[in-house]
Amino acid sequence: MRPLSLLAARRSPVWLRPRWGSRWCRRSRGCSPAGRQLLSTPIFYANGSPHIGHLYSALLGDALHRHRELHGRGGRFATGTDEHGLKIQTAAAAAGSLPQHFCDRVSVEFQELFAQAGISYTDFIRTTETRHRRAVEHFWITLQDRGWLYRAKYEGWYCTAEETFLAASQVTECPDSQGGRHMVSLESGHQVHWASEENYMFKLSEFQEPLLRLLKERRLTITPEPFYQQVLPWLKQDLPDLSVSRERNRLQWGIPVPGDASQTIYVWVDALVNYLTVVGYPDTHHDWWPAACHIVGKDILKFHAVYWPAFLMAAGLDPPEQIFVHSHWTADGQKMSKSLGNVVDPRACFQRYTVDGFRYFLLKQGVPERDCDYYDEKVIKLVNSELADVLGGLLNRCTASSLNPSGTYPCFSKACFPKDMGAQNGRGLGKASTEDYKLVSSVKELPLRVSSDFEHFRIYKALESILECARQTNGFVQRHKPWKLSRNDPAQQEWLDTILHVTFECLRVYGLLLQPVIPASADKLLTRLGVGPSERSLRDLTFLSHYHEEQCPFEGRSLGCDTGVLFPKLEKPPSRSHGGL
Ligand code: MSP
Repeated sequence: MRPLSLLAARRSPVWLRPRWGSRWCRRSRGCSPAGRQLLSTPIFYANGSPHIGHLYSALLGDALHRHRELHGRGGRFATGTDEHGLKIQTAAAAAGSLPQHFCDRVSVEFQELFAQAGISYTDFIRTTETRHRRAVEHFWITLQDRGWLYRAKYEGWYCTAEETFLAASQVTECPDSQGGRHMVSLESGHQVHWASEENYMFKLSEFQEPLLRLLKERRLTITPEPFYQQVLPWLKQDLPDLSVSRERNRLQWGIPVPGDASQTIYVWVDALVNYLTVVGYPDTHHDWWPAACHIVGKDILKFHAVYWPAFLMAAGLDPPEQIFVHSHWTADGQKMSKSLGNVVDPRACFQRYTVDGFRYFLLKQGVPERDCDYYDEKVIKLVNSELADVLGGLLNRCTASSLNPSGTYPCFSKACFPKDMGAQNGRGLGKASTEDYKLVSSVKELPLRVSSDFEHFRIYKALESILECARQTNGFVQRHKPWKLSRNDPAQQEWLDTILHVTFECLRVYGLLLQPVIPASADKLLTRLGVGPSERSLRDLTFLSHYHEEQCPFEGRSLGCDTGVLFPKLEKPPSRSHGGL
């Protein structure tokens, strides 16, 4: 795809400087309060109901945001709906609705789903809002004033599904259902058609070197690493200028180009600017920008890692700090699609597996580096074995009145579990074994490991580590069989209480660390252990204080009331249906 002729003289651009300088940005990087970031999900196309892929994007953001809040570094967390463009215009027409009414309905569906899922956003943006239109218009005028836009006649293969022009090398011929042939996008398989029109072009080609430097110097980081490696070749190939408007007679549902009502602003320029709108662009964004971290699916990486930083640099702003990329969910081994009828409805999943059960499943099974397959049995197996058996079972066991008749947080005995094991052959001065000391050291290190995994976008790994420790704790209880110890013998009672104390302390740590992922269940667990709302921060998390020669605030405290099992076991669904959309 290339511009055929320039219809207006190219104005000379603000010259690209080899390094960041005052002409690029007015403020230095990281200017948000106390190093906090704007965390964002993509804004979701308002052309259909939300599915589990959308929910997954939002959950990753939610869990990370909650985790940061528990560390006292909450920042902002924005999500929303992307409501302009041909896709929406076509979907609204097919539904016999006015685009605005159609978007209102779909946007509310997303908001309701997010409320049900406990997505703790601080801002939900809709691109049809006035504040956003103002931001987009200002952004456009800035690009124009700085000389980065020009008009040109343009023609090429247009993919409506991706809202983008594709080069000849990006399309291929394919047989259609009527025995004819049509052209499709090589990357997505969506049908494309030939379009020829007059557009505004953005001088993307001039950003090839600055973008490459930006990424190589890791001033914009892309995580996980394979996605960073995927972006580099895009910047080493030809990077043609980008068409950033559409003729109004073809696309009416969008923001008109300021001063030229015959053109509509390209939906991706419109959509990307949402990240600025939510931080108050064009008035107060400098209080936050560029302290931003975008969570995006792999299909929209180019828009975020190439176009967006280029637009920002052109507008005199810094690129965001981080991009976290995730892969996709398939259903029963296939790409989810309406025509296959295998699109998984998250609301049906919440009903079947509980909200926390399903949140846990998506975040534990979802590995950002690779596509993940959804099927019902997998959710049941995971939730039953990990949440119901390992975690719920552990809580149930150690709070049972047979073991803990006083219903209090039991006391720890240093004589039974001395800090220094002080012996050989697996037996020490106290009653604890080498494996018990390993457990204590694993749980002690756990919060740091979990935080690091969250911040490196490895939430699934954080959950694996928590579960591994919970399994070890079950092993600890199993090894010492507290139910065989007698409360009538003071020495045995001391050891029994110590076993329970260590188990409670482990459970307290797991409950605290699981708050970002299963908030309602973590609350139930912590309440049962008698941990108050002001004692749930991760910033000053303590573990086994008494063992570490410090005062333990929990010892002797009454437990919270018993509100039943932590996780009821899930039943196998009667038939294999996803409650498809
Ligand atoms: N509107 C654009 C984003 C604009 S952001 C400035 C868009 N919307 S989308 O609704 O198609 O996709 C939103 C997010 O959902 C993307 O991150 C996309 O990768 C993600 N997912 C869509 N289908 C998915 C799966 N099957 N699995 C996981 N995530 C998926 O793109």
